[in-house]
Amino acid sequence: MKNRKQAYHIETEKGLINDPNGLSYFKGKYYAFFQWNPNATDHSYKVWGKTTSQDLVHWSEPVIALQASEAYDKDGTYSGSAVSDGETLSLYYTGNVKRDGVRYPEQCLAQSKDGVHFKKYGSVLSLPDDYTGHFRDPKVTKEDVWKMIIGGQNKKTGKGDIIQYTSIDGTSFKFNKIIGISKQYEMIECPDLFTLDAHEVLMYGLQSRNNDTDECLDAHAVYLIDRLSDLDKGMHMDEGYDFYAPQTFVDAQGRRIMLAWMSRFSDAQEVEFAKDGHIHCLTMPRELSVKKGKLIQSPVREMYELCHEIPYTNHMKIQRQAMIEISPLEHMSFSINKELSIHFDEGISIERYDWAEQIYQKKSWPIKINHMEIWLDTSSVEIFANNGEFVYSARLDPQAEDLLLASSKEPQNINVYRLEIKNDYNK
Ligand code: FRU
Repeated sequence: MKNRKQAYHIETEKGLINDPNGLSYFKGKYYAFFQWNPNATDHSYKVWGKTTSQDLVHWSEPVIALQASEAYDKDGTYSGSAVSDGETLSLYYTGNVKRDGVRYPEQCLAQSKDGVHFKKYGSVLSLPDDYTGHFRDPKVTKEDVWKMIIGGQNKKTGKGDIIQYTSIDGTSFKFNKIIGISKQYEMIECPDLFTLDAHEVLMYGLQSRNNDTDECLDAHAVYLIDRLSDLDKGMHMDEGYDFYAPQTFVDAQGRRIMLAWMSRFSDAQEVEFAKDGHIHCLTMPRELSVKKGKLIQSPVREMYELCHEIPYTNHMKIQRQAMIEISPLEHMSFSINKELSIHFDEGISIERYDWAEQIYQKKSWPIKINHMEIWLDTSSVEIFANNGEFVYSARLDPQAEDLLLASSKEPQNINVYRLEIKNDYNK
């Protein structure tokens, strides 16, 4: 069987994972919870999985943190967030409840003092009259007051809103205001709102749904800066194929760190990866900043400690966990096996091999690239160019055990690094 097992991305050995949840720094450790169906490679059932890390790079073996066990979350513990006050880790999530196929979501609370045992306290907010059963993914913050923002489908418009609720103690929430509305998309998922570099940043997923059949048609992750009310004006978070449901938290050093779900697979793409008995992963942790009205994403600096430089020669082979740094010349191409090729001209184009359709998927941008980092794991690529202004994330289906690197020009401007990861961490 093909080896697609990732070395430094969060994934599970069984089932399906999706959104990062409850990202937090608590009692000296990083916590990444995530949506997990441990039983099958589909979305039929969801619990919260958990993995922890000391350094954001090496992650512990995933375990289940929140089962779908109570009347208020019986059909799945859906996405949500965490508040760490130093003493207690509070998890806020959507309890997915269905009766006769109709959704009656509850926004729920669970708390832990040790990061291991979580006690559930049930609902802190029931479905308001103005919203349909598509009402989920609470992002809760605690400053002078507790705030919760959430995505909901407005009954009157049939489109998505982001709504804010407040609370004095985090145990029950009241309507405060509508932050933004969409006139085009039927649902907003996984909102996140924070202040960064003196700007307000709102991130969320725009989802198209067929309201008659209740089918999800498409979804992509976007953000707004400072002007937050018109959600249809969201700018793309990522230029690749596999990026959705990003969530952020602030670590002990005050960095704003983000992880996202690394998949928007087509059904046909899923079939092939699901043969491994597990499917999907999260992106690597990225540090965010705001520059000139844009959201900038860069790998967290801990990732660079894994990099060991080796001399580049054209047509060299290298292990699949690697980082390649290019300061491109014009009219230059760079390829990685049959899996990815990049063409630098006045602009840039990237072709990714789609293993399901067996064709190259090509995208082009009129952006001059000065510098690019290509981070490769066994079956994924994350590209950061022009110091994190341009980001492209995609899964790759390995066509060979190693990577074969080839450039169309002589390569003084290419640096190659092998990544060394301690796989036995925390076992
Ligand atoms: C986004 C999402 C969330 C939901 C979760 C269920 O990918 O649809 O809105 O809470 O996944 O797994």
